[in-house]
Amino acid sequence: MPGLNGRRVAIVAGVRTPFTKAGTLLKDARAVDLARYAGRELLERTNLDGHEVDEVIFGQVVPSALVPNVGREVSLLPQFPKEIPAYSLNRACASANQAITAAQDQIALGNANVIIAGGTEALSDIPILASRRLADILVEASKAKSLAGRIKTFAKIRPRDLVPVSPAIAEPSTGESMGQSAEKMAKENHISREAQDRWALRSHTLAAKGTADGRLTAEIVPWLSTRPGGPIVQQDNGIRTDTSLEQMAKLKPVFDRRYGSVTAANSSPLTDGASAVLLMSEEAARTLGYEPLTFIRSYAVAAVDPGWQLLQAPIFAVPTALERAGIQWKDLGLIELHEAFASQVLSNLQGFAVMGGSIAIGHPFGATGGRIVTTLSNEMKRRDVQFGLISVCAQGGMGFAMVLERR
Ligand SMILES: CC(C)(COP(=O)(O)OP(=O)(O)OC[C@H]1O[C@@H](n2cnc3c(N)ncnc32)[C@H](O)[C@@H]1OP(=O)(O)O)[C@@H](O)C(=O)NCCC(=O)NCCS
Repeated sequence: MPGLNGRRVAIVAGVRTPFTKAGTLLKDARAVDLARYAGRELLERTNLDGHEVDEVIFGQVVPSALVPNVGREVSLLPQFPKEIPAYSLNRACASANQAITAAQDQIALGNANVIIAGGTEALSDIPILASRRLADILVEASKAKSLAGRIKTFAKIRPRDLVPVSPAIAEPSTGESMGQSAEKMAKENHISREAQDRWALRSHTLAAKGTADGRLTAEIVPWLSTRPGGPIVQQDNGIRTDTSLEQMAKLKPVFDRRYGSVTAANSSPLTDGASAVLLMSEEAARTLGYEPLTFIRSYAVAAVDPGWQLLQAPIFAVPTALERAGIQWKDLGLIELHEAFASQVLSNLQGFAVMGGSIAIGHPFGATGGRIVTTLSNEMKRRDVQFGLISVCAQGGMGFAMVLERR
């Protein structure tokens, strides 16, 4: 999507941390640690001087109350001057994609030449909130004029006020969880349990292949824990080489225990991880001596009624992105499709994914978009494919699509 001034935006490089299942190898890391790690390694690997960077933009879906602007914390890495502005955003599971398009727009407009855009999520470290009544009592107690007054206020606390509140992966507008939506889509679109399990197996098989031959591993920054004795993590840990259709068939459905078909195997797991992508104007890439992997040709975002099929909006975003790119489905050489659930993929699907997706690799909500843009760009370069498509479904009934081009 060049600006009116003809400025094209290049994807120059991308990296990510390993994606690991929540509560496992990265459970001690905060989202900000993961984001800073990915940001710093992107600079290291590309040998880019931090002074060249005009802006930093990061996506995060479940932010910490203590670090609400994670993007700014990345731009405060010692490798950057302190004067680089930065912000964070939330477009649910397409947040890193949104960070990348925000960067594209600023560069295309001529407001910036070099931007780092990415995303992060630590689902091992979600904020646990106090109940509203407890919060009100604590505020009231803090305003009490005497110790007796304070004790009297505290006496109002009931055991149920102490029950912590944690964010649910559910639609605020309908109360339906992502998993329930995936169930609904399986039923309404007649997608069988077997078809979902087959897709999940495909995801694991392709992701395992991409890991074994080094294509996926090349995008990963090994995680060196700062905690003494902490783990060194070099790979994603959700990809299973030990699974089979028979084993998957034994699992009980999670979101509709009686009549359902969505299981732990055909859903993406709750995941920790971060990604970072380096974008430059075509001209800046040439001047600074970087060879672009791909260029952004177009993008589009669509939304549907969350009460309908929550994860179906990509089917509207994709045709718009193709139309804006001035190309047709048949012109695409590669497609990277975010896999929230196999039933959603098979509902969305009119194509194929490149290297196994989020079901196997994992899905740290805010970070997935950076992984997908990096993987597709690298693979388009490897296969010398002219046009590639990205499709991502997101909470709120939203869908994101982007067309990348090689030349
Ligand atoms: C589906 C979900 C609830 C499962 O969580 P979980 O129960 O903690 O999942 P686990 O990884 O522990 O797997 C459960 C069991 O299935 C097994 N399993 C999982 N994947 C498997 C596979 N591919 N093959 C065989 N067995 C598998 C596990 O080994 C485990 O078995 P065990 O109980 O004997 O140890 C959780 O991953 C989830 O909420 N996912 C959806 C996330 C979401 O909503 N994302 C938003 C998308 S937009």
